[in-house]
Amino acid sequence: MSNEVSPIPASQSVVSILRPAAKNQATSPELTPALQAAVHQKRASVIALLKEALQTFGSQHEITFANSMGAEDMVLTDMILREQLPIEIFSLDTGRLPVETYDLIAETEKTYSTKLKIFFPQAQAVEAYVRSNGINAFYESIDLRKGCCHMRKVEPLQRALNGKKAWITGMRAEQSATRTGLPFREYDQNNKLEKYNPLSDWSEQEVWAYIRMFNVPYNKLHDQFYPSIGCAPCTRAIAMGEDVRAGRWWWENPDSKECGLHVKS
Ligand code: ADX
Ligand code: SF4
Repeated sequence: MSNEVSPIPASQSVVSILRPAAKNQATSPELTPALQAAVHQKRASVIALLKEALQTFGSQHEITFANSMGAEDMVLTDMILREQLPIEIFSLDTGRLPVETYDLIAETEKTYSTKLKIFFPQAQAVEAYVRSNGINAFYESIDLRKGCCHMRKVEPLQRALNGKKAWITGMRAEQSATRTGLPFREYDQNNKLEKYNPLSDWSEQEVWAYIRMFNVPYNKLHDQFYPSIGCAPCTRAIAMGEDVRAGRWWWENPDSKECGLHVKS
């Protein structure tokens, strides 16, 4: 077994037990005039970039936005739908998402009177993996974890990107060591299409200021110290001062903590 550290189930997170009612300043920043001005300016830049992408790569059905329903992605969802940009929005339902994420999908569809394009993993691949390895095999080794991410996220992503000319993500450079220097636009060699990261230069504070200023729906787990949310068994709350992605695959080394959606070749 290449990974010896046993994980603590998210449901037993000390942080969520000790601070249930504490006000979370990360998700409710003080909306100073300077912060609001910065957000308006950055919003304009993102919309300009999305419009440039639409001009370069065509319109509907050719550009698609990968929406994990995380805070950053809700900012982009709001911009795309409020501005009625002809960009498709899809989500990968791994089958292991937290209930709060499903609630947010439903709330988003209702708020914006839209339907997200949901992709599921191939049922036969999931059945084969679970029968050979077990239902929670991802805790046992990095290889089994990556295999699960491949089957539940990467393969469905490949179908979501099939035939597209460009895709959009909500990644930010500050999120992790693996995302430092993230460009606004790059060629995705792995998936063979253009990739846009319009929020690359946004801070966490700006993301939350946007959500509050524009009254954007968001995942309720964020208020419980979950800054980054993926699948339920692989996500937990973070402690004060911890890195924003410390709660993702927390039993692994920070250098290996990408699920395969954003591989650089
Ligand atoms: S990741 O490690 O899961 O890839 P993260 O949750 O930080 O990282 O997501 C980064 C970006 O990948 C998101 O902004 C989104 O564009 C895309 N993404 C991640 N998970 C999903 C998902 N389940 N459905 C659609 N897009 C996703
Ligand atoms: Fe599987 Fe965890 Fe990856 Fe989700 S995050 S696909 S449950 S290993």
